[in-house]
Amino acid sequence: MDGPGLTEPGLIELGLTQPDTTEPDTLRLFFALWPDDATRIALNHTGKWLHKHWDGRRMRADTLHLTLAFLGRTPTDQLESLFACADGVQADAFDLNLDRAGYWRHNRIGWFGASQTPPQYLELVGMLNAALQVAGFPVDSRPHVPHVTLLRNSTGGELPACEPVNWSVRDFVLVSSRTEADGAHYEVVKRWPLP
Ligand code: 2AM
Repeated sequence: MDGPGLTEPGLIELGLTQPDTTEPDTLRLFFALWPDDATRIALNHTGKWLHKHWDGRRMRADTLHLTLAFLGRTPTDQLESLFACADGVQADAFDLNLDRAGYWRHNRIGWFGASQTPPQYLELVGMLNAALQVAGFPVDSRPHVPHVTLLRNSTGGELPACEPVNWSVRDFVLVSSRTEADGAHYEVVKRWPLP
């Protein structure tokens, strides 16, 4: 399945975007690395390649991302506090070389990750999650595995060699997610540059 487009969603107007009709005062949120267009095209290419080997449902190109911290449903009146957590993160820009496919049997996800994780990435994830924890937001206690989900409901199989994708990471974002009939739709709420 090809994605409908490669353009980044616009910033949402705070308080004007409603996630669904039942819970107007919450948003489903996560912090992520959001690929630039060239990286998105390259990741989508890897998704097509992996799909040939491992089947399953390809993620639409416009949804591809790397999650730094998943928050889940969050009251919109906590957005300012979330912004403050991200404001306090002091991490440098870095290059992330995605070079290996991975498969998780328990959730049938096929993903693309990095065999070498840059120290700046670990600093970014560490500082962000520490700030979220101090502010009382839920943080994932499982070991963090940097990954871009490319396939869901996939069979997995023999590990195919993948052409590396070099992602020049210059910022991170807070994303709002809503589920529609054709799958997940994401909007970038706010962006934080990395110097
Ligand atoms: P995944 O791609 O490995 O499923 C938006 O749902 C993003 O947050 C996805 O990238 C998803 O990871 C990630 N995520 C992390 N923890 C999650 C959770 N408990 N429920 C749903 N998504 C989660």
